Amino acid sequence: MRKKIVAGNWKMNKNFSDGLALFSEVINMANDELHNSQQVIVCSPYLHLHSLVQLNKGNTKVALGAQNCHQAESGAFTGEISADMLASAGVQYVIIGHSERRQYFAESNATCAEKINIALKHHLTPIYCIGETLQEREAGTHFDIIKTQLAQATYHLSAQDFVKLVIAYEPVWAIGTGVTASSAQAQEIHAFIREQIAWQYTVAVADEISILYGGSCNPKNADELFAQADIDGGLIGGASLKSRDFIDIAKAFN
Ligand code: PGA
Repeated sequence: MRKKIVAGNWKMNKNFSDGLALFSEVINMANDELHNSQQVIVCSPYLHLHSLVQLNKGNTKVALGAQNCHQAESGAFTGEISADMLASAGVQYVIIGHSERRQYFAESNATCAEKINIALKHHLTPIYCIGETLQEREAGTHFDIIKTQLAQATYHLSAQDFVKLVIAYEPVWAIGTGVTASSAQAQEIHAFIREQIAWQYTVAVADEISILYGGSCNPKNADELFAQADIDGGLIGGASLKSRDFIDIAKAFN
C-alpha cells in the first residue's frame, strides 16, 4: 500500500528558538495523537535541522526534511548546502523544485533532475514538486506543463529509483493564497500524474508512488482532499506553522 504522508514546509519562517518550540509541540502532539503507523515530516530551515534531529531522537512519528539542496557533491558554492551534509545530520527528506525556488531562484527541470540524483545518491527521499501557474491553467496548458516537469526531472531514473520519490502536486495559484484546488480538480491532476507514470514505467510503479497535494491545505479541507483516490497526503505551508493545525491535518487520515 502507498505511504500516506503529511509534510510541513516551514519556508523561511520561525527564528531558532521559535522553531525549537514549535517542533517540540509537534513531537508531543504526534506522540499523543497519531496512530503508530502514522508519520509526519517537518521541513524546517537548514539552520534548525541538526538541533531538531537531536530533539527528535527516539521518536518514530516525526521525520525531518530540508527545503532544498545543491546539486553538486561539494565545492565552491558559497552559501549552499549539500545532500551529503543533510544526510550526515540525520535528515531523511528533501523538497526539490518547489514553485518558489523555480520562480525566485530560476530552478529549471534540468536542475531539479540533478538535485534528485544527488539526493538519491545520499539516500534522501526527494519530495519533487510540480504544478502550473494561474496563467498556465487559464491557457489550458496545465497538463502539458505537468507532463514536462515530470519527464524532464525524473524520467531518466530507473524504475527502481523512481519508486523512491514522493511527488507533490502544488498548483501555484493555490499556494499561500487561501484558494484551494477543489478536491475534484486536485484528484483530476493526481490521476493524470499517476497515469503518466504508468505509461512511462508500469502500473505497479505508479501504484506505489505517494502523490501529495499542496496549496492552502488546512484542517477544514484536508478530510475531503485526502479522501480522493489518488491523493496520498499533503505538503503543508502556512498551516504547518501552527502545531494544532498541522497535527489535525495529519489526523484527517484517522
Ligand atoms: P501553503 O503552501 O499551504 O501555505 O499554501 C504550500 C507549499 O508551498 O508547500
